[in-house]
Amino acid sequence: MMRNVLILVAVVAVLLGYQLYTHKSEVSERALQPKNEQIVSQGQALYMAHCASCHGDNLEGQENWRQRLASGRLPAPPHDETGHTWHHDDEALFNVTQYGPQYVAGADYQSDMPSFEGVISDAEIVAVLSFIKSTWPAKAQATHDEINRRSEITRQQQN
Ligand code: HEC
Repeated sequence: MMRNVLILVAVVAVLLGYQLYTHKSEVSERALQPKNEQIVSQGQALYMAHCASCHGDNLEGQENWRQRLASGRLPAPPHDETGHTWHHDDEALFNVTQYGPQYVAGADYQSDMPSFEGVISDAEIVAVLSFIKSTWPAKAQATHDEINRRSEITRQQQN
């Protein structure tokens, strides 16, 4: 009897440890890596292939991106420092790219921004976003690091 209890305790401990471990690694795997040259250059190629047609070859976005199109939808915003991409933490950028703006704005939200789920891998999404971040001035990158730190603290408080 005692032995069974001990085995049960051990199994639960291993499962809990595993859950903590996978939760942690999931977060860190999504951390952008703007200083990793290999990831950034992979991300640049992916950006040109999948994002530049709307967000611009130089990340400048579409003209008058703050004004709605005739369709009522928003144009593609710039990903350089004149846009607000750098106001969102890594997790939010990942989710919008993976699932589309509907992830934050609700399933009924109409948008031209596609979902990249099944189109490019998780690591490729991180690479594209790492490339985008690598183009921001040092000050915007530092502010973005700070936004991530604050989100991480909020997440820890919620758990
Ligand atoms: C077909 C055009 C199109 C393509 C291709 C496209 N996007 Fe977008 N993207 C948009 C539009 C339009 C928006 C504005 C969405 C809205 O709010 O309705 C947007 C918004 C975003 C946002 C949110 C920005 C913010 O400040 O809130 C991110 C992040 C983003 N796109 C990343 C990407 C990435 C990364 C790629 C390539 C892997 C990509 N997009 C490809 C059209 C596109």
